[in-house]
Parts: sequence; C-alpha cells; structure tokens
Amino acid sequence: MGSALVTGATSGIGQELAWELAAENNDLVLVARNRERLDEVAERIRQVANVQVEVLPADLSTLQGAELVARRVRATDKPIGLLVNNAGFGLGQDFVGGELDRELCALDTMVRAVLITCHAAAAEFSGRGYGGIINISSMTSLTAQGTYSAHKAWVRTFSEGLAASLKGSGVTVTAVCPGLVHTQFHERSQVDSTQWSELAFTSANYVARTALNAARRGTVIVTPTIRYKIAAAAIKFAPRSVVRAVAGPKLSGRN
Ligand SMILES: NC(=O)c1ccc[n+]([C@@H]2O[C@H](COP(=O)([O-])OP(=O)(O)OC[C@H]3O[C@@H](n4cnc5c(N)ncnc54)[C@H](OP(=O)(O)O)[C@@H]3O)[C@@H](O)[C@H]2O)c1
Repeated sequence: MGSALVTGATSGIGQELAWELAAENNDLVLVARNRERLDEVAERIRQVANVQVEVLPADLSTLQGAELVARRVRATDKPIGLLVNNAGFGLGQDFVGGELDRELCALDTMVRAVLITCHAAAAEFSGRGYGGIINISSMTSLTAQGTYSAHKAWVRTFSEGLAASLKGSGVTVTAVCPGLVHTQFHERSQVDSTQWSELAFTSANYVARTALNAARRGTVIVTPTIRYKIAAAAIKFAPRSVVRAVAGPKLSGRN
C-alpha cells in the first residue's frame, strides 16, 4: 500500500497508530515537532518491527510545516498510501479572554494543516487509484466545547464531504470520533482528567485499532466503543440547549 504517514506520532493515539501499522509490516513516516522524541519512537519501532521509519519534524501550526508534510504526501519516491491526520491538542483556555495566538495555533494545526495535507493526498491518491486518509476528530465534534468542538466538527464534516467526493476513486476517508482517551492530551492542556470516571476512558491502542479497521472497511465515520456510540446517538437526538448545558464551554474541566 506504500508507507503510512502519521502526524502527532510521538505520543498517545498517534504513537499507537504507528505501532499498529508497523506490526502489520507497513513502512512509516512519523511527524511531530519534537525531533528527539521522533527519533526515540522511530528507533524503538525499527528495532521491534523491522520496518523502515522516516522522521519528518514539522510544526503543523505553521504554513511551512503543513506544506512540508503535503510535499512528502505527494512524493513519488517511497509513496505514501495512508495519511493519518492525528496531531492536535486541547486549548486549555476559554475563547473569551483567552490568547488569540493560541486560538490561531489550534485552528492552523487541527484545521488548516488537515485541509492542506488532505488536498495533496486526495489529488495524489485518486490519480493513482488507491490510498486511505484517516482524520482524527472527536466526540466533542457533536458538543459545544468552544473552538475545539468547532475544529473537530470541521474535521468530521470535511472528511464526510471528501469521502463522498472520492467515492469510486479507490481512496477511502475515515473520520474517527473518540471520547476520552488516556494520553498526554489532558495534562498538556491543563485539564484534570481525574474528574472523570475511569469507565469513561478508552485506551489509545483501542482507538488506533478501531480507526485502522474502519479505514480498511471504508467506513466514513467511526466512534470507538459502544458506550460512546450510544452517547453520540443521544447527543444527536437531544435538544441543543441540553447539549450546551451538559457539554458547553464552561465544562472543559480545566485546572
Ligand atoms: N485524548 C483524548 O481524550 C482525545 C479525545 C478525542 C480526540 N482526541 C484527538 O486525538 C488526537 C491525538 O491526541 P492525543 O490524545 O494522542 O494527544 P497527545 O498524547 O498529547 O499527542 C499529541 C501529538 O500531536 C503532536 N503535535 C501537537 N501539536 C503539533 C503541531 N503543532 N505540529 C505537529 N505535531 C503536533 C505532539 O507532538 P509534539 O508536541 O512533539 O509536536 C504529539 O505527538 C488529537 O487530534 C486530539 O484532538 C484526543
């Protein structure tokens, strides 16, 4: 299928995706900002899984970073067969009174970079008649938790539209909508994750395996775990005033 390119591959869901893909004998291109962590993860995967692992340090909040990744997606030498847009973070602030720079960084990382890399992948993969795109959205795409919800709703809707545009081209697009997952995400965005029951959490490995199985089947939107599938259905039928009250901007759980 060609190599798999995974953004945000040094931690959490992205790292689990990288390990799962390597276990299936796929060569990898790993993207994140921190070069040292990229090299560490790449070396461990090479030693254990015996696949080729390239590292591509890039800050996806910058236009140059997103374009660097898009260029790698378009490259015909060691072609990419699967693009995984996973890099992301919680803002750790309210929109009102928060820093505009942080808002722009989140928008550029979780929306603009996804658009730029998918634009490259859609053209390249459909031209050759095969390939897959996985975009990590979130259950919050259905709620009202500030701009993070809006970014993840964009990812979900965009992926759906792209999947429809690429139907019959041999290229699949899958949006993954996990609920709470044990990763560095909450700590990095200064959210106290102990406020939620352990039962609410899914493992990053389960999310990764669900995402890859869904992409293989050509599923367009997947919500890992039955519990969150039920929650997603409930949110779709609930009045939006209830959704805003239960999962609105004031309920982010930040420290
Ligand atoms: N954890 C959850 O509860 C949860 C739930 C639903 C959806 N998600 C989504 O799942 C995805 C993965 O998050 P995670 O939970 O695995 O978080 P994580 O453990 O904090 O990992 C985030 C990864 O993204 C990279 N990254 C962050 N900003 C970047 C940038 N500007 N450019 C390039 N790479 C960047 C980080 O590496 P560097 O810092 O080195 O760049 C790291 O590899 C995100 O899109 C997140 O929104 C998470």
